[in-house]
Amino acid sequence: MIVVTGATGSVGRHVAAGLLAQGHKVRALTRDPSRASIPREAEVVRGDLGEPDGLADALRGTRAVYLMAMGGAPQRLAEVAERCGVERIVVLSTGDVLDDVERQPDAVAEIHAAFEHAVASTDMQWTFLRPNEFAGNSLQWAPQIKAGDVVRAPHPLARTAPIHERDIAAVAVRALTQEGHQGATYVLTGPHAITHTDQLDLIGATIGRTLRMEEIPADQAREQMTRYAPPAIVDAVLGQLAAAVHRPPTLTDTVERVTGRPPYSFADWAHEHAADFR
Ligand SMILES: NC(=O)c1ccc[n+]([C@@H]2O[C@H](COP(=O)([O-])OP(=O)(O)OC[C@H]3O[C@@H](n4cnc5c(N)ncnc54)[C@H](OP(=O)(O)O)[C@@H]3O)[C@@H](O)[C@H]2O)c1
Repeated sequence: MIVVTGATGSVGRHVAAGLLAQGHKVRALTRDPSRASIPREAEVVRGDLGEPDGLADALRGTRAVYLMAMGGAPQRLAEVAERCGVERIVVLSTGDVLDDVERQPDAVAEIHAAFEHAVASTDMQWTFLRPNEFAGNSLQWAPQIKAGDVVRAPHPLARTAPIHERDIAAVAVRALTQEGHQGATYVLTGPHAITHTDQLDLIGATIGRTLRMEEIPADQAREQMTRYAPPAIVDAVLGQLAAAVHRPPTLTDTVERVTGRPPYSFADWAHEHAADFR
């Protein structure tokens, strides 16, 4: 039995599906089973990562866990998992985490580093996944694309290596089920470094429209984003985008090395998600 947290999330849903396709038993954790859309073959359990002591029943008797850095209680969570007999744990971290620094560069990196450190302080076998920007972040533009041809967004020339969530999940499935990935920190990128403007062009090409990105000042974006997310997280996201204008990502071949096939491109992702933009 393998526990998949975030099984309703953009990566976790592929982790659950990938494990089930290989014949593994999956226990999917969600805070609200009544609303969760999870494959029928999985066992669904209610749980909140922010309340680790309530997770003992969900964790007991499981060999491996795919863990989201959510809930804000990393140390207790790691202790409970180890006490429940979990042997192997794969953490969805972020490419923004830095090694060997006293302070992480921003709040997002800090949160994920805290989960990595908590898990590494146990005797469980761990693998840390540090992906670059998710291709699915572009779904935030969908309402504007449905309403017209112009997307107003900050830092249109931010250059990232967007990764298909299924590629992150494919690496997670290997790390959960195969030997040889324990103690590894995998920096995961898509195959190309492209700007947000390029991403929008590729979405436009997929749905047969010419789309245009118009820059809005970071202050205006901050004002909009803080309606939905804590200011420290918004500042981290905007800071990462601003830095990505001048510092292109370093591409890695980790997806191909681990899975044996090349990663999907952003164009592949856009093609698959065309309906979300129409
Ligand atoms: N977007 C990016 O570019 C990017 C890049 C690098 C890393 N990341 C990291 O990737 C993670 C997001 O992954 P995702 O896109 O797969 O997820 P997502 O689509 O954002 O969905 C969030 C998932 O987390 C679960 N969750 C949230 N709080 C929870 C809690 N307290 N207890 C239990 N489950 C909880 C939700 O489950 P329920 O609602 O069903 O309970 C849901 O499945 C974040 O940690 C993010 O920082 C993102």
